[in-house]
Amino acid sequence: MPLQLVEHPLVRHKVGLLREVDTSTAKFRNLTREITGFLTYEAFRDLPTEPKQVRGWAGEVQVERIAGKKVAVVPILRAGLGMLQGVLDLIPSARVNVVGLYRDEETLEPVHYYNKLSHDIEDRRAVILDPMLATGNSMCAAIELLERAGCTDIRALCLVAAPEGIRSIDERHPGVRVYAAGLDNELNDQGYILPGLGDAGDRLFGTQ
Ligand code: URA
Repeated sequence: MPLQLVEHPLVRHKVGLLREVDTSTAKFRNLTREITGFLTYEAFRDLPTEPKQVRGWAGEVQVERIAGKKVAVVPILRAGLGMLQGVLDLIPSARVNVVGLYRDEETLEPVHYYNKLSHDIEDRRAVILDPMLATGNSMCAAIELLERAGCTDIRALCLVAAPEGIRSIDERHPGVRVYAAGLDNELNDQGYILPGLGDAGDRLFGTQ
């Protein structure tokens, strides 16, 4: 199972606020950023550190610094942008790469329309952002793009996942770990997650 549910009471509370249909765009955006911070905290628990000697207020002191590969954050356009600042709050030096995918409303298959990756993406730990892991098709398309570019360390963050999306990642990319704040019941006929959040892009950008 590639899923790690982040079930801290603060996260559960904030996801509950996101689910309310009357939550304003500003509040939805802010909650998304805050929840993404918690997801990032969990997703990067395994980052290695190395010792470093610094000058402290009372003399030399040994501290720890993050070591090894740097991070590339990869929002899937457009809803993934809503999660971007939540990662950058904790990892300000991360490079931002974007994957432009839209979902063909008939086939529900992802269609690429814009990609911009760092020249050194293969040397970075990639973290893909998409608030809604529904069928998993867009996430798998983004994973495949990163793998083709040479990435070997890929993780994914989403606010809410559907069992169908988790199954799809498990079957097609078992090495990719997904961090989610909620695991919902199912997809409806249009591929929306139930109970879900509705159209996350519209709610983040106020375009409904
Ligand atoms: N995309 C969304 O914005 N919401 C869903 O429920 C599924 C895909």
